[in-house]
Amino acid sequence: MPLKILVGTQWGDEGKGRIIDLLSAQADIIARYNGGDNAGHTVTIKDKTFKLHLIPSGIIHEHTLGILGNGLVINPKSLLTEIMMLQDAGITVDPERLKISFAAHLITPGHIALDRAREVLLGKGQIGTTGRGIGPTYTDKISRKGLRMVDMLDLSLFEEKIKIHLEKVNRELLYNFQTTAFDIDPVVEEYLAYAKVLKDYIVDTGAFLDIALHEGKQVLAEGAQGVLLDVDHGSYPFVTSSNVTATGVFTGLGIGITPVENVIGATKAFQSRVGAGPFPTELDGEVALHLRGSGSKPWDEFGTTTGRPRRVGWLDGVLLRYARRVNGLTDLVLTKLDVLRGLPEIKVCTAYKDENGETALPPMGVSQIEQYQPVYTTLPGWQEDLMGVRKWDDLPDNAQNYVRFVEEISGVKVMLASVGPERSQVVEVPA
Ligand code: IMP
Repeated sequence: MPLKILVGTQWGDEGKGRIIDLLSAQADIIARYNGGDNAGHTVTIKDKTFKLHLIPSGIIHEHTLGILGNGLVINPKSLLTEIMMLQDAGITVDPERLKISFAAHLITPGHIALDRAREVLLGKGQIGTTGRGIGPTYTDKISRKGLRMVDMLDLSLFEEKIKIHLEKVNRELLYNFQTTAFDIDPVVEEYLAYAKVLKDYIVDTGAFLDIALHEGKQVLAEGAQGVLLDVDHGSYPFVTSSNVTATGVFTGLGIGITPVENVIGATKAFQSRVGAGPFPTELDGEVALHLRGSGSKPWDEFGTTTGRPRRVGWLDGVLLRYARRVNGLTDLVLTKLDVLRGLPEIKVCTAYKDENGETALPPMGVSQIEQYQPVYTTLPGWQEDLMGVRKWDDLPDNAQNYVRFVEEISGVKVMLASVGPERSQVVEVPA
């Protein structure tokens, strides 16, 4: 029963969208298990670029079926916009090809307003959320007050539930945050209209996946964000509100652990982060400009969802070893190797240090890492452009050495390296 899992090993934005697209060629079903439209997965096929926030990136392959699992929080407006965008591009998205869990939770404008109000109140301590209502929706889920997709199947009950929810949000906005309340009726109308369109997509996706796995279908679980943003294992409190790690697949899809074949970690060849929080290997100056790009190209380091410039730094091997541990990684895909071209030397953080000495693993998870200084190993760079390279033997020696060094510090073999944003720009890495 083959289940492959793809997770981000950093703070998101590792280029998972294009890896999912590649792996989807061999998959029957692609399933998202966490997060919502805070994610941004970019897929470039020839001269066409798709930016997906909710629908699994593998849907671009004609033979696949997409699942939005129970672990998701779904903004129906974003979902329908995305469905229409794909349909306009000639990609079929209908209830046959996209199935949404009855137990996924709904994001409303109330959650979005609360997300923004909470950030304003935090002032300097802001998390830098994507402002998509993710935190407040998961808060409602955990406190057993959430709205679920299944509620959309009974319109009169749904109307009642959404009104109660919005009235509660308005009280919170007025009394806790001293901001303006919003007009409830138009939102209720809007959500009733969404319910009428989405009802045919709502099924028991866990049961559907169980049957598919028993029939031997290939399932690919598509992680959103990265392990360092996981609510349990990330740099808390500067995290998202879901379980991003591979273990989140099972609660987020409603299946057991037995079908797992491998756990693939997407790792960018350097480190990046949007939003606030610790970042030991962060750089500024010329090297940062080199890594980030100018924002003129789609693959430059600017957030897919928010457009914010990403913070960038050297690859952090300590955090990569940690990602191996909490995900049980079996393979890595190293992305954006081409971006390192032209640097005279490349540093990789191999340990942390403080006044007590060096450590190879973060001692208290990753929520305390701001107290450490990185210890670097310096490797020679390369000048050759990698974007046209498709074979391992054609990579410059120093680029090959960099890939091997990543394997050495992480303890995980690299299966693929990407050398450009287009689907074909990948190099298979021999064992
Ligand atoms: P939230 O998920 O919108 O609540 O944001 C919490 C933190 O996670 C912020 O630092 C965001 O910038 C970050 N974040 C959320 N989703 C993504 C993503 O898909 N890529 C990168 N960072 C993300």
